[in-house]
Amino acid sequence: MKFFVDTADTKEIRSLAETGLLDGVTTNPTLMAKSGRNMLEVIAEICDVVAGPVSAEVAATDYESIMREAKVLRRIAKNVTIKVPLTPDGLRACKALSSDGAMVNVTLCFSAAQALLAAKAGATFISPFVGRLDDIGHVGMELIADIVQIYKNYDTLKTEVLVASVRSPLHVIDAAKIGAHVATLPPAVLRSLYQHPLTEKGLATFLADWAKTGQHIEEPKTAAHA
Ligand code: E4P
Repeated sequence: MKFFVDTADTKEIRSLAETGLLDGVTTNPTLMAKSGRNMLEVIAEICDVVAGPVSAEVAATDYESIMREAKVLRRIAKNVTIKVPLTPDGLRACKALSSDGAMVNVTLCFSAAQALLAAKAGATFISPFVGRLDDIGHVGMELIADIVQIYKNYDTLKTEVLVASVRSPLHVIDAAKIGAHVATLPPAVLRSLYQHPLTEKGLATFLADWAKTGQHIEEPKTAAHA
């Protein structure tokens, strides 16, 4: 399963990229507003740090304007993925952009029927929002299972399921069990995947016991150095 980080905070992205576990980045207008910075500069900076797909979301809603904005965003770097809303104009733009070789992430997906349309429009990624569905009393993960199953039925559909609106490590594990291709995680959720109290407790014991030996792991001293 690929891990993307869902943020426009470039400091966080730099730090998470150092883990070697980051496969891409997603941003959205809300995250961009939170950064308080110029969008084009932020996307360029992220693309310098992360080689994988970096989603940059259009703000336009009509086909012509989406295509105009996509042109600007695609010029930033090769790994920019154009993020379009799941609307008739968004999917029309998805079809045109993917036919022209661009990566496209179709966002704000809340039903399997929408996901099927996005795949037919040539989306590179479909972003179903699990957390927002959970928030309104639905089981977001059921949508992931439906989409994965539907896509598996058709070899011609190449769209990857990018689980979005992830709120907890449980979402990540459930999505991985289902076989979703990607999960985009807020930085805190990504960092929380490392944690287990028994790992911390076990490490503390090992370090304390090791200290008692008075040993150090280092190059043995040769006669020349002695
Ligand atoms: C996905 O691409 C979106 O940016 C994001 O996952 C939305 O998450 P939220 O529902 O926590 O805002």
